[in-house]
Amino acid sequence: MNQADLAVLNCNQLLTCAGPIPKRKTELQDIGLIKNGCIASFEGKIVFVGGKEDFDRTVQMVDGGIVIDGKGLTGLPGFVDPHTHLPFAGSREDEFNLRVKGYTYQQLAQQGLGIQTTVNATRKATDEELLSLCLSRLDSMLVHGTTTTEAKSGYGLNKKDELKQLRVLKKANLVHPVDIVSTFMGAHEVPKEYKDRKAEYIYLLMQEILPEVKNQNLAEFFDIFCEEGVYSVEETREIINDAKKAGFKIKIHADEFAPLGGAQLAADEGAISAEHLIVITDLGIEKMAQSPTAAVLLPGVSFFLMQQKTAPARRMVDQGVIVALATDFNPGSSMTESMLFILQLAVFILKMGIEEAINASTANASYALEKHEQVGSLEIGKKMDLVLWDVPTYPYLVYHLGVNPVKHVIKNGSIVVEDGRIRKTSDLLL
Ligand code: NIG
Ligand code: FE
Repeated sequence: MNQADLAVLNCNQLLTCAGPIPKRKTELQDIGLIKNGCIASFEGKIVFVGGKEDFDRTVQMVDGGIVIDGKGLTGLPGFVDPHTHLPFAGSREDEFNLRVKGYTYQQLAQQGLGIQTTVNATRKATDEELLSLCLSRLDSMLVHGTTTTEAKSGYGLNKKDELKQLRVLKKANLVHPVDIVSTFMGAHEVPKEYKDRKAEYIYLLMQEILPEVKNQNLAEFFDIFCEEGVYSVEETREIINDAKKAGFKIKIHADEFAPLGGAQLAADEGAISAEHLIVITDLGIEKMAQSPTAAVLLPGVSFFLMQQKTAPARRMVDQGVIVALATDFNPGSSMTESMLFILQLAVFILKMGIEEAINASTANASYALEKHEQVGSLEIGKKMDLVLWDVPTYPYLVYHLGVNPVKHVIKNGSIVVEDGRIRKTSDLLL
């Protein structure tokens, strides 16, 4: 008999999203559906997934163990959000309103707005202010079913404030149930004070900031915005090679507005993922399909920027690219913490199947963070990160729009959201 201290019994539908991970092509349709499914964990790790008869035969609850009735509910692995710009201060609703009135994202950037607005606000924020902002956003993520998230710096763009953003993430990870995977993205832009001295900024980034990030163990990934007017393909290649040598795993914001070839670069250089890919080329798709580099698609951005153009998700999946989904949560181009909303957009505007979008938000999303051994699917030995949705079947998640059907969230085997309400007290930990 297996000991368990938490069990959820008889879920209407339990989706395991079990491996092999990553999932390509038709594998993305396999959600591992178990009808009347049961799942149990001990000390935060899954010890059983299957039907009620097997549960009764093989699982023994410890004294005081918690049993949740899953009747009428649908269980999924907690969402993994592999791309966010979480530690920012301020907001940009006035600039958003200008975009509603017809200005483009690039026009605002040319006027010194956009990312720069958020850099100014983030530089002004104290550690405490930024931490408090992060914690309330993490609460919001958790209430919407995300149990692991990536989070990047990139609104400091100088030594002091890049390190501040990463320090805050480290603290947030310690005190909040959502697991945070940190990324150093000092190469998110060239700050205005270095506009005509890009080489000097790259020197500062790589020779002064990056070693400190490493020494203080503040980030696992390195990310860069490879884009016209920001970092060229050649600059990106050199920079990521230095970052790799310093021990960072690589992500690249690639082929978002101009088809520079960032996707090929990511595949050639062994990046863990390439992100955005709205204007990925045919060669880019081919190269990525043959590589272990994941494509993290961010349909929230096309939607939020009100662009017709979207990443060619259908062709990417069909040709065998490892496709994952993320919010890109940031104040300028995707102001949402909700992975469910992104999953819905993937179905509505990227033409992904519901099953594909679910796997892309769980199993493949964990792969895009190299965390697929621990999270992203409900399998024995992995973390008990489970969301119980108040829907009778999984298609309902996409069918019923504009509501949050999260009922309970279990993180590391503990109930952290109960009946849609957060149970923890992050404010008390400040
Ligand atoms: O991923 N593409 C670059 N950066 C962000 C947007 C940042 C902002 O507008 O503040 C993105 O979309
Ligand atoms: Fe981004």
